[in-house]
Amino acid sequence: MSDAFFAPAKSLSGTVTAPPDKSISHRAALFGAMSDGAVRIANYLHAEDTTSTLNAMRRLGASVEAGGEQVLVGGVGLRGARDGSPIDVGNAGTLMRLLPGWLAAQEGRVYELDGDASIRRRPVDRIAEPLARMGAVIEPTDGRYPPLHVRGTPLRAITYVLPVASAQVKSCVLIAGLCAEGTTTVTEPAPSRDHTERMLAGAGVDLRRDGCDVVLRPVQALQAQDLTVPGDLSSAAFMIAAALLVPGSRVLVRGVGVNWTRTGFLRILERMGAEIAGELEPVPAAGAPVATSEPICDLEVRAGALRGTVVEAGEVPLAIDELPLVALLGCFAEGQTIVRGAQELRVKESDRIAGVVDGLRGLGAEIEATKDGFVVTGAASLRGGTIDARGDHRMAMLGAIAGLASREGVRVIGMEAAAVSYPGFREDLAGLG
Ligand code: S3P
Repeated sequence: MSDAFFAPAKSLSGTVTAPPDKSISHRAALFGAMSDGAVRIANYLHAEDTTSTLNAMRRLGASVEAGGEQVLVGGVGLRGARDGSPIDVGNAGTLMRLLPGWLAAQEGRVYELDGDASIRRRPVDRIAEPLARMGAVIEPTDGRYPPLHVRGTPLRAITYVLPVASAQVKSCVLIAGLCAEGTTTVTEPAPSRDHTERMLAGAGVDLRRDGCDVVLRPVQALQAQDLTVPGDLSSAAFMIAAALLVPGSRVLVRGVGVNWTRTGFLRILERMGAEIAGELEPVPAAGAPVATSEPICDLEVRAGALRGTVVEAGEVPLAIDELPLVALLGCFAEGQTIVRGAQELRVKESDRIAGVVDGLRGLGAEIEATKDGFVVTGAASLRGGTIDARGDHRMAMLGAIAGLASREGVRVIGMEAAAVSYPGFREDLAGLG
């Protein structure tokens, strides 16, 4: 395990390009493999998680050329995944939750999906349950966890009300619906990221949004479109937070994906009084057709005073991966910052409520855990100290940003975890300081 020390920074300035989006890279590779013909993916994220996806697609029979500027995926077709067990998803929860939706429909073939120690602690019953209702033969270990066994069989469409707002579960059911008999409907309690819907609609799938419902009709074949992956707001968020917290900073983050289902963090920051300029995608009007592209823009961020805010359950899925940063920003904001309805944080790469609260408290913050979030009381500064990333990429990067903004600096235990989503994180940060 590698430790790293992040010293207090004077001020950050310059330009950084957001690394490619992880969620979109996973989907682009998967939909390419499910297609007839080949798909070119420009700006694919070359990180541990998305490399696991390319390897999984190879195992299932897709051809993957990843050596050049673009990734080229030659698909096996919607019903052509070959037996490729065991499939190692590594640390990638999105791969573990999306892929079974496709494999469950591969008649007569059997698969085993497994991953690292963190993946084996993350529930997959949330996808096994709707897939079983569609007729899938699917068995999580102890009814709940990976390794997960899937036997392909004909599927029938269902109407499924998601018990939690999860883009991964929604995507899994929609992907299974592509091969199922009948019309699949997934109802979300609150909107979550919609990359799957955009990409499938772009591939010609008959898919529409009707209020909280996503309605999809099956297809005979899929032809995913070539695409350029936008920058990942969830990775850019660390640079944005650093620029807001280190006094005197002014940073331009280029090429950030600003699909409205991803920009909840920026709306939270606006309420906190942050100065961020950029043209975000507006929330679409009710009844608008599903978009088939992903908007991007540059974001200009300046350091400044922040005030506390309250994040409620409806906003949580739109900012889920950035909530640890909301806690850190809350440490410096005037008054209290409260996050509620975010119990999903407990089943991420680590228990992010426990990790954030214990970690930031260890650096001198006044922060309390609740069952579904946290309450932070802001102060003028943060002491610093040591934080354990607990094998979680976002916790490692959180510690790094806390260090830059602290009085004494922060030592991060397990900094190598950042390579899961943002291999160039330290170089990009150094480029600003
Ligand atoms: C993701 C969805 C979110 C998010 C994860 C990526 C996706 O998970 O936290 O990092 O790509 O669909 P949930 O769907 O479990 O909320």
